Amino acid sequence: MTKGIKKAIFPAAGLGTRFLPATKASPKEMMPIVDKPMIQYGVEEALSCHLNEIVIITGKHKRSIEDHFDYSYELEAQLKKSGKKQLINEINRLNRINIAYIRQGYALGLGHAIFRAKPFVKDEPFAVILSDDIIPPEETLLKDMLALYKEMKCPILALEKVSMSEIHRYGVIDGVKEHDKVFRINNLIEKPDAKNAPSDMAIIGRYILTPDIFDILEKARPGRGGEVQLTDAIRSLLKTRQVYGFLYSGKRYDAGDKFGYLKATVDFALKNPELSKVFRPYLLEVVKRFRG
Ligand code: UTP
Repeated sequence: MTKGIKKAIFPAAGLGTRFLPATKASPKEMMPIVDKPMIQYGVEEALSCHLNEIVIITGKHKRSIEDHFDYSYELEAQLKKSGKKQLINEINRLNRINIAYIRQGYALGLGHAIFRAKPFVKDEPFAVILSDDIIPPEETLLKDMLALYKEMKCPILALEKVSMSEIHRYGVIDGVKEHDKVFRINNLIEKPDAKNAPSDMAIIGRYILTPDIFDILEKARPGRGGEVQLTDAIRSLLKTRQVYGFLYSGKRYDAGDKFGYLKATVDFALKNPELSKVFRPYLLEVVKRFRG
């Protein structure tokens, strides 16, 4: 019997230019959606799928990510003094997990960031989670992808149908439907124009990959935008093995983008029982104001 996948890589060394100046000296991944930093949603998602061996690829100005997943003795002492025991449990909940950190040095692209995790992953299949793509905890995307990997033993990419006006922002697949939500991928194009897009199915921030991708990434040359693109490496992988796409139709927030970030904030605030008591009437008031 093969062992289940245990490892998850979180590339978090990007420059976050869409959020400048906020990301000049602090990580995009630490920007909060209500009261949790983006990356915590991803880490909780990984843990809910029993991906207990986590590596975060970090870079300059990213030290607060390490501090976030560590104990804070001063804060604990202060909270203890003021009798806020529940908050202590909440801030320490994720500190018991083992997280390794690897620095990327230069932000040379997603493919380069993933290659940095090779010594940690070794020869096992692994998941990649882009924490600025937020999937709400009630969704089962990653679980479904892991189940599909168990059946297929092939790399699996999460896909979502996107409108043609948005397609230039994504890696897009050319594929054939195998069954239900599963597509056999024939080709991939990074950020195509609407007229060159091979389909409307875009790759989103969840991947199950196999360690043979490292051999390709090791030799990879920078592609579009001067970065080592993961999409290019997966296209090379297609020459030697099958790669599948899993079409997701649930909720996803592209929180690496300002509009997506705002949508996530509003929806998560409305789901918070305490906050929604005051936030919902406020939103209704705003809508009323706009309607005039
Ligand atoms: P993005 O494409 O969102 O890039 O990267 P970015 O730098 O974070 O943000 P913008 O586009 O400049 O606003 C997708 C994921 O890949 C990571 C990012 O941290 C993000 O989680 N990444 C990207 C790296 O770890 N290293 C890189 O060199 C590039």
